[in-house]
Amino acid sequence: MRGVRDLLELETQKIQQILGTFQLITRKAGYHQITLPSLEESSLYTKSLGDYSDIVTKEMFYIQNKSYVLRPEGTAGAIRSYLMNCLLGEKKLWSYCGSMFRHEKPQNQRYREFYQYGIESISNSFTPASDAEVIILAADILTHLNVPSVLHINTLGDEQARKDYNVLLGEYFQGKTLSKLSENRKQAQKFLRILDSKEEEDQQAISSAPSIIDCLGQREKDYFDEVKIILEKFKIPFLHNPRLVRGLDYYSNVCFEFINTKALIGGGRYDNLAGMVGKEKNMGGIGWAAGIDRICELVQLNEKQKIVGIVPVGSNCVEQCMHVARKIRMESEFIVKMKTEGNSVKQHLGYLKNYEPTFIIFIGEEEINSGCLKLKICATAEHVFVPIKEVFDHPAVTLSKFLLN
Ligand code: HAM
Repeated sequence: MRGVRDLLELETQKIQQILGTFQLITRKAGYHQITLPSLEESSLYTKSLGDYSDIVTKEMFYIQNKSYVLRPEGTAGAIRSYLMNCLLGEKKLWSYCGSMFRHEKPQNQRYREFYQYGIESISNSFTPASDAEVIILAADILTHLNVPSVLHINTLGDEQARKDYNVLLGEYFQGKTLSKLSENRKQAQKFLRILDSKEEEDQQAISSAPSIIDCLGQREKDYFDEVKIILEKFKIPFLHNPRLVRGLDYYSNVCFEFINTKALIGGGRYDNLAGMVGKEKNMGGIGWAAGIDRICELVQLNEKQKIVGIVPVGSNCVEQCMHVARKIRMESEFIVKMKTEGNSVKQHLGYLKNYEPTFIIFIGEEEINSGCLKLKICATAEHVFVPIKEVFDHPAVTLSKFLLN
C-alpha cells in the first residue's frame, strides 16, 4: 500500500531510542505521558482544524459513514480529553506519541501513516516565557539528537488580527489565477488557507503575498518581541518567517517550525481550541509535535550496545549456557545473544558475527569441569578465564571489569 511502511528491526530500534530521548527530556521538564485513542469523531477535526484546511478537505481517513476518522494529529484529541477528564483551569503538561494518519500524496519523508511525539502545555494563563520554554525544549531535544534544523517563528496574532489579515489577503488574491483547491478557498473567503497550498501553480502568488505584521495589535507585537528576546537570551537561533501560518485554524499568536529540508517539528499557541472543541473560551495552550520518521532519517546513533555472545561448546552444555545467559540478561545491562540450536562452534560464531559482540563466552565440558569459562574480549582478541560462579553471582560487576575505555 502506498504511503505506509514496515519498519524492520533496525529502524524500529532507532525509533525507540529517539522516542526514549524525547520521553526522558520532556519528563524532566515536567510533562506526563498520556495515551490517546487512534480513532476520534470526525467532527472534532472539522470544528478545530477548519473545513478548509488541507487535512480536513483531502487528507482524513474516514470510517463508518464518515462518523469517525483515524486521527490526523494529536492536539485536538488532547484538548477533547482535557475537557472530558480534567478540572477546568487545571494546568496540564502532557506528552503523547503514536501513529497519525493523513491521506497525503506519498513522497520522500511524507507518509500516510507516520509517527509523532508531541507535548501540550494546557493552561488558562500564559506568558512569553512559558511559550519560549516550550520552543527551547524542542530545540534542546534536536540538539541532543544532533539533528540540524532552522527554527522559523511567526505570530498569527489574535482573532481580530487574523480577520484583518484575511481581508488584506482577499484584496491581494483578487484577480490572481490559482489552483482549483485555492480557488475554492478564495470562493469561501478562506484566504489565509491559500497560504498553506502546496500546489505548484500557487507558489508565485503566495511568495509575494502581504505578511500579517501590519494587522497585528501592539499587544501581540510586544508579546512576540518578548518571545524573540528570550530565545536570543537563550542563544536559540531563529528566523522570523512572516509567512508561516501553520495550516490549521486552531492556531493563534506564536507559531513555529523546526525545518531541515522538510519540517521536523511544528507547533504553536492555540488559545481558541478549547472553545472550538467545547465551550471553554478561557482555556488555551501551546505545544508541538515532532515527526519521528523524518527525525529518524537524520539521526546517527553512535551509542554502541554492549552485547555478550555465548557459545555452547558441545550440545550437552546448552542448558548451562542458558543459565548463564539468563543471569546476565536479568542482572546486567548487557544484551545476550545465543543460539540454542546448531552444534558446531563455527556455526555459533557465524551467528554472533552479525551482532559485533563486546565479549564472547565459551562454555564446554572442559570449562564446566574447571569451573572457569573462557571469555574473549573481541576488541583485542584476548582470552581470559573467569570463574563461572563470579559471572553467575555478579554478572554486571564481573563483565564490566573487562570493558575497555
Ligand atoms: P504538524 O505540523 O501538522 O503539526 O505535524 C508535526 C510534524 O509531523 C511535522 O513537522 C512533520 O515532521 C510530521 N509530519 C506531518 N505530516 C507528515 C507526513 N505525512 N509524513 C511524515 N511526517 C509528517 C501537528 O500535527 C500539530 N498537532 C502540532 C502541535 C502540537 N501544535 C500544537 N501542539
